[in-house]
Amino acid sequence: MNRLRTILAVLLIMLPFTGSAKDLFIRIVPQPESIELTGGTFKAIGASVNCDDAFDAASRTVAQDFAARMSLATGKVSSFAVPVGISSSVVAGKIKGFVFIRDAHIADEGYSIEIGKKSVIVRASGSAGLRYAVETIKQMLPEAIYGKSVGVKASWYLPCAVISDKPRFSYRGMHLDCARHFFSVDVVKRYLDIMAVYKLNRFHWHLSDDQGWRVEIRQYPELTLVGGYRSGTMIGRDFNSDDGIRYGGYYTQDQIREVVDYASKLGITVIPEIDLPGHMLAAMSAYPWLGCSGGPYEAWHKWGVADQVLCAGKETTYEFLENVLGEIADLFPGEYIHIGGDECPKGEWEKCPHCQAKIAELGLKADDRFSAEQYLQCYVTSRMQEFLATKGKKIIGWDEILEGELAKGATVMSWRGVDGGREAASHGFDAIMTPTSHFYFDYMQSKDTDNEPVGIGGFLPLDKVYGFEPLEGIPESDRKHILGVQANLWTEYIATEEHLQYMLLPRLMALSEVQWCKPENKDFEGFRTKLSEHELKILEVMGYNYRRLD
Ligand code: ACM
Ligand code: ZN
Repeated sequence: MNRLRTILAVLLIMLPFTGSAKDLFIRIVPQPESIELTGGTFKAIGASVNCDDAFDAASRTVAQDFAARMSLATGKVSSFAVPVGISSSVVAGKIKGFVFIRDAHIADEGYSIEIGKKSVIVRASGSAGLRYAVETIKQMLPEAIYGKSVGVKASWYLPCAVISDKPRFSYRGMHLDCARHFFSVDVVKRYLDIMAVYKLNRFHWHLSDDQGWRVEIRQYPELTLVGGYRSGTMIGRDFNSDDGIRYGGYYTQDQIREVVDYASKLGITVIPEIDLPGHMLAAMSAYPWLGCSGGPYEAWHKWGVADQVLCAGKETTYEFLENVLGEIADLFPGEYIHIGGDECPKGEWEKCPHCQAKIAELGLKADDRFSAEQYLQCYVTSRMQEFLATKGKKIIGWDEILEGELAKGATVMSWRGVDGGREAASHGFDAIMTPTSHFYFDYMQSKDTDNEPVGIGGFLPLDKVYGFEPLEGIPESDRKHILGVQANLWTEYIATEEHLQYMLLPRLMALSEVQWCKPENKDFEGFRTKLSEHELKILEVMGYNYRRLD
């Protein structure tokens, strides 16, 4: 029966609404859990917006912003009010317009919407659900709701319906590499804006790498003044070339706070990544004593994995890392700090007297699975984990952190396929799925690469992103450890916002259905129709660049 209802709902979504107002569709991405059309329409233009005073200030702001957006897009004022005793007024049928009610019985991040002919009753238990309900209502309205001007020709009606919805996964992430190429605060904000439309809630911000250090650290000013810049960059895919042009930039701590605050208003938590102990050449260019040899080093001009990494033998390295991570922990209020851990070549450690002395001091020994140097990396990881715990933070690391011994409480980001995530979950670690095969949005969107912007290679079309099943092959007992899914956008070959958005969109929408929808509510053909009939128009109105559908 449920299945039949879902099929009917999906069919109805594809059909034009046949009520009095023409052009009404229910096309929502990500697809809500259940939609039931009940007949008739609600006139949204000029409708008042009423918010329960039991909601907190952040939730009320969401409702108020919706009223402002409605007024702007329809050209007719949608008044905003916070009436006392809203629930009893609703029961008595006294309130008309949009009515947002706080209901503690609704799941965290979930919501329900009841669209009648006179009122739209939204129920949510907190700001996240309220926000997602608003996003769903916006998706049901004409695209002009996303714009900056009045949608004069738009038909401001909603079809009467009952919608009930909640996300499948609590972690719905999108990553951005601002180290290989630097993107301004405004570019990052626009990135966050479109994430919010599709109900993503985690922004993984890659802030340091071999090619540039991007976050101001007060105790180490040269990290940005020196490490924030490289004196040239390879041209296109030619590893033997160099443009010789100084390139770089960084975010001041005030700018970081501005982004964190902006994201928070969109319901998005920012997870900063300081990638260690590999991918650290830019930091080492500023403070050469961080490396095994003492340098000199230079922020890298090329892409790939540099052999020079932080010296894990010297105490000064740990002091540096704790000071840096201390400032990072103060800047980012979320519970997680990402400490990287990927692609750390061990050649220097094998030769370094400091690293070898540390291995001896700790009694680390190679075994049939891992080298002593791999165990040394585990030591670095757990020392950072312990330090961050004193700041009330948990760590996330790329799946290499599973090599050796991982301390309880770490979360693993599975990027080299899904095995890391499966293994982590089987050992009781939380995991986030972000396999290269399905979620590396730097990969090409066509095999006809001559007609695509220059890129890193690979092939990741929309349907492949859409088709990923995060829990496949994971035993029932381990599934609670799969927190969710994320896509990564590395920017070695991406220098402009136009190109960045082209790689992101519309794959971000496919990602959102993987993150939000139960498998039985997914359907690629239906999704594609939603894109062509509605979602791509939203992108046009909001001014995003995107890849056209094949
Ligand atoms: C990675 O792509 N090196 C995590
Ligand atoms: Zn060393």
